[in-house]
Amino acid sequence: MQIIKVKNYQEMSDKAAKLLIEQVSLKPTSTVCFATGSTPIGMYKNLILASNNNQVDFSKMLTFNLDEYIGLAPEHSQSYQNFMHKQLFDQINVNSQNIHFPSGVGDITQNIENYNQVLENYSPLDFTILGIGTNGHIAFNEPGCDFESQTQLIDLTNETIQSNARFFDDINDVPKQAISMGIKSILNAKQIILLASGKAKAQAIYDAIKGPYTTKCPASALQVHGNVTFIIDEEAASLL
Ligand code: PGA
Repeated sequence: MQIIKVKNYQEMSDKAAKLLIEQVSLKPTSTVCFATGSTPIGMYKNLILASNNNQVDFSKMLTFNLDEYIGLAPEHSQSYQNFMHKQLFDQINVNSQNIHFPSGVGDITQNIENYNQVLENYSPLDFTILGIGTNGHIAFNEPGCDFESQTQLIDLTNETIQSNARFFDDINDVPKQAISMGIKSILNAKQIILLASGKAKAQAIYDAIKGPYTTKCPASALQVHGNVTFIIDEEAASLL
């Protein structure tokens, strides 16, 4: 496990974008799993700049995403598919046919099977980007999750629902379930970077890095991965 401590959100975003740009420059057909949430937005802004300045070519990159809310169609303003298009995909030269998402609408059992099949077809992914929840979750794998899990249906915890309520008009509008890559599918990637910024993430970062390997902190599963880099700012690193 490599830990890169940086000063602030901007430095975290710069470092993370640089790593992905290096990856895609070395291998244009890289398979990359993206994360949603506030944390990677700065990284995505840097990727857009680099793409617009022709410093990197994303046209052959294949994209995947960690998770999606159940019940939100892709065009819903808060769906993760919509988020990715707005924050990144629509502003870089990614080929729309190379974009893969788990679907949160329709037959969920079938969707889970389909996404596991997609991941298996491209296994192992080259590069995965993760955020971390204040409770240590990665993607929507909440405390107590199964470390052997693949893509699955998840009941969100109250903590996660409350944390995500900031994006919805009413907390009752926040979906209570999600489809999410499991810990086993996430760990299958060749390289993983986890980004964290701010004091609110300090305990989760401590538990993930210094705490025991336990399902109580899903991110602690990363301790057994051979190529994981935590890129964390001073506040997120403050308890280490
Ligand atoms: P955030 O979410 O980036 O919005 O803090 C991270 C997460 O919950 O995984």
